[in-house]
Amino acid sequence: MAKQDYRIGMIGYGFMGRAHSNAYVQANNFFDLKYRPVLKAICARDEAKAKAFADQWGYQSVETDWRKLVERKDIDAVDVCVPNNLHAEIALAAAANGKAILCEKPLAMNVAEGRKMVEAVEKAKVPNIVWYNYRRIPAVTLAKRLIEEGKLGKIFHYRAKFLQDWTIKSDLPQGGQGLWRLDLAAAGAGVSGDLLAHCIDTAIWLNGGLDTVSCMTETFVKERMHNLTGKVEKVGIDDACIFFGRFANGSLANFESTRYARGHKALYTFEINGENMSLGWDLHDLHRLQVFDYRDEGKIRGWKSVHVTDNSPDHPYMDKWWVPGLAVGYDCSFTHQVADFLDGLASGKPAGPTFRDALETQHVLDAILASAKDQKWVTVGKD
Ligand SMILES: NC(=O)c1ccc[n+]([C@@H]2O[C@H](COP(=O)([O-])OP(=O)(O)OC[C@H]3O[C@@H](n4cnc5c(N)ncnc54)[C@H](O)[C@@H]3O)[C@@H](O)[C@H]2O)c1
Repeated sequence: MAKQDYRIGMIGYGFMGRAHSNAYVQANNFFDLKYRPVLKAICARDEAKAKAFADQWGYQSVETDWRKLVERKDIDAVDVCVPNNLHAEIALAAAANGKAILCEKPLAMNVAEGRKMVEAVEKAKVPNIVWYNYRRIPAVTLAKRLIEEGKLGKIFHYRAKFLQDWTIKSDLPQGGQGLWRLDLAAAGAGVSGDLLAHCIDTAIWLNGGLDTVSCMTETFVKERMHNLTGKVEKVGIDDACIFFGRFANGSLANFESTRYARGHKALYTFEINGENMSLGWDLHDLHRLQVFDYRDEGKIRGWKSVHVTDNSPDHPYMDKWWVPGLAVGYDCSFTHQVADFLDGLASGKPAGPTFRDALETQHVLDAILASAKDQKWVTVGKD
C-alpha cells in the first residue's frame, strides 16, 4: 500500500525534540503504517541552532516564530516540545489552524488551561495526543493487559515513585535554558507536574481514576538566582511531593517524587498489589515486569522477573523489533507512541492519552497541590 506523507512541524529542539524526532524517523522502519512522518519544519528562536538541528535530524525547513509554523499550509501536525507555560497558547493556535497536535506533558499549567485546550481540539475536531510515553514501554503495556484480563483480581494498593537528585546544590540557578523546570512561571509546578504527572497518568491508565488525595510538598532550597532577571528570587516549585489517595475502585494510592534523592537519576517505579497477583516495574530495568502469582504451585511460588522481549504477540510491540531476548529501550516508548498515533489516524480509533484523558491527570495535579497548600484532603475534580 502506498504510504501517505504526514507532515510534522516541531516546536522546540531540546531533550524531547530529539526523542520525538528519533521516533518519527524510526516508526515506519519497524511498523507497517499507512502514514509516513515527514520532518517538514523545526521551530526554535535561535535560527543557527535550529538549522544545525534540522541538518542533524533531516528537517526540511526552519522557523523561528511558532506562530508562523502553526499557520503553514504544508504542515499536518504540530508537535509541542517546549516548556509547560507555552503548551496552551501553541495548542490553541494550532487547533484554530486545523492542525493535529502532539503535545508534551503535562498537558497544561493547570486544569483551567487544560480545559481550554480540550475544548479547542474537540471543537476543531483535530487529532490530539499527549506524550505520556511510559504507557508504551512493553513491560508497562503488558501490566495493562494482565490487569484487563482480570489476573490481579481486586486491586488493593498502587504505589509509585519518581526519584531524581539533580537540584540538591543550593547555588544551582533557576530559569532559562535547561533550568526552566525550577522556575514556577515556566513549569507551573515542580516535581508534581514534571515527574508525578507520569506516575499519575500510568496509574489512571492501569487502575482507573483517583477520587480523593492528601498531599505534602516541600521546597528545600527557598531562593535561587534567576537566570532571566539576574536576581536571587523565591523558589515557587515543589522540590518534593508525597501524596496518598483513594482510587475510584477502592484501592489505596501512595505516590512520592523528589529531586533530592541522592543517587537516583530517574528512578520511576510502581507496584500494584491485587488479590491474586502483584506487579512491579522499574524504569532502570524497563524491559522487565516483576510478577508474583499467588495461584502458582506453592513450592515454586515466588516473584518472577519476566523479560518482556519475546517477539510473539504475547509481549506488546516486541514482534516489531529484533529476535527474542533482545531488549528495546526508553526511545522506543516514543516510537510506539508515533506508531499508535498514526495507526489511530488510519483506523479512526484515536490512540490515547488524548487531551481529554490528560485533563484527568491535570485534575489530580491541581488537587494534590491544593491539598498540600491547605493541609487537608481534597476531592479530585472531574470534567
Ligand atoms: N515525555 C517525557 O518523558 C518528557 C521528558 C522530558 C520533558 N518532557 C516535557 O517536554 C517539554 C520540553 O521539555 P524538554 O526536556 O525537551 O526541555 P528542553 O529545555 O530540553 O527543551 C525545550 C525547548 O523549547 C525551546 N523553546 C523555549 N521557548 C520557546 C519558544 N518561545 N519558541 C520556540 N522554542 C522555544 C527551547 O529552545 C528548547 O529547544 C516540557 O513540557 C516537559 O515537561 C516530557
